[in-house]
Amino acid sequence: MRVTPWEVEGKIDYNKLIKEFGTKKIGEELLKRMEKLAGELHVLIRRGFFFSHRDLDKVLEDFEKGKGFFLYTGRGPTGDMHLGHILSFELVKWFQKRFGVNLYIAISDDEKFLQKRLSWEEVDKYAKRNIEDIASIGFDEDKTFIFRDSEYIGRVYKLMLKAARKVTFSTAKAVFGFTNETNVGLSFYPIYQIIPTFFEKKRALIPAGIDQDPYWRIQRDIAESLGYYKAAAIHSKFFPPLQGLEGKMSSSNPRTAIWLNDGEEEVKRKIMKYAFSGGKPTIEEHRKYGGDINVDIPYQWLSIFFEEDDKRLEEIARSYTKGEMLSGEIKMLLVEKINNYLKEHRRKKKVVEKKIRKMMYEGKLAREMWEKSFE
Ligand code: TRP
Repeated sequence: MRVTPWEVEGKIDYNKLIKEFGTKKIGEELLKRMEKLAGELHVLIRRGFFFSHRDLDKVLEDFEKGKGFFLYTGRGPTGDMHLGHILSFELVKWFQKRFGVNLYIAISDDEKFLQKRLSWEEVDKYAKRNIEDIASIGFDEDKTFIFRDSEYIGRVYKLMLKAARKVTFSTAKAVFGFTNETNVGLSFYPIYQIIPTFFEKKRALIPAGIDQDPYWRIQRDIAESLGYYKAAAIHSKFFPPLQGLEGKMSSSNPRTAIWLNDGEEEVKRKIMKYAFSGGKPTIEEHRKYGGDINVDIPYQWLSIFFEEDDKRLEEIARSYTKGEMLSGEIKMLLVEKINNYLKEHRRKKKVVEKKIRKMMYEGKLAREMWEKSFE
């Protein structure tokens, strides 16, 4: 297995990742405490898709004491967005709603220009399209600031330099695996990705894939010496591709993913044709031996996010395992759930223009952010 901010390969052993990265499992006690404060637990936390953390206990403590915290996440615009991309944003929305806090969303056009062989026009196109999808999710427009790195840089450059002076190339090399062939732009980029954790003098909570954790390690090394808090993080697993449990959905292979702009028929076709099934090859065998929910992608997707109702999920697991429910039937359940989700997404996206304007420039938080200069 291989997990870096730019590469995820092989069968992922999440317990091993916790050990290797030095993070903590989100345990029962923390779940209870969060449920008490939030009034409920989001399905992505309850079912363990977000499984690991740094200092989440301290974030909750800050909240309990009235000090508060803020949220930070981001998106690298390398292509259109698929279902795997949207899940962290769903969790972020939940956190914002339940805790009433500010949210900062970085669109790292700079990172992707440096890292991928994309022209500036392409990065620009995807940044705009990604912002439309992200803004459609439904954040608090006065408490959310969406910014493109390349556009906001003037307000943070001085602070970036202060932070950059504290990180040596040898540290960056060790954390990110930079080599002599890495372009120098990419070696500076990590400083920008950590800067938003300094946007407020409170703890930042970052919901993101565990592959992004290396950034937070560097942030935590330098934050206090600059007069800020160490960032807290809550880490997700990788949303499994249609073809099975290894690796993650890949933008470069359209068959591995369901895109937010896939139409109803396309969703159905992909799931029927490509979703890895834990069912048996013939109906007779399936009725006799039952399906294996542990490897069945439709079941896995339902359980990660798409079937929120615990009782119904349990019933699906039972009847599929017993062979009462067939592979085609569980696939259809998923098709319906996803199509409902995407239909709602399309509806929200139709009226997103004004929301984008507010969250990028005109809303309360956005206006404050453009008036500020960090140093
Ligand atoms: N580096 C992320 C990516 O490749 C994008 C990103 C920027 C991000 N800032 C972030 C992700 C903060 C999570 C949290 O997609």
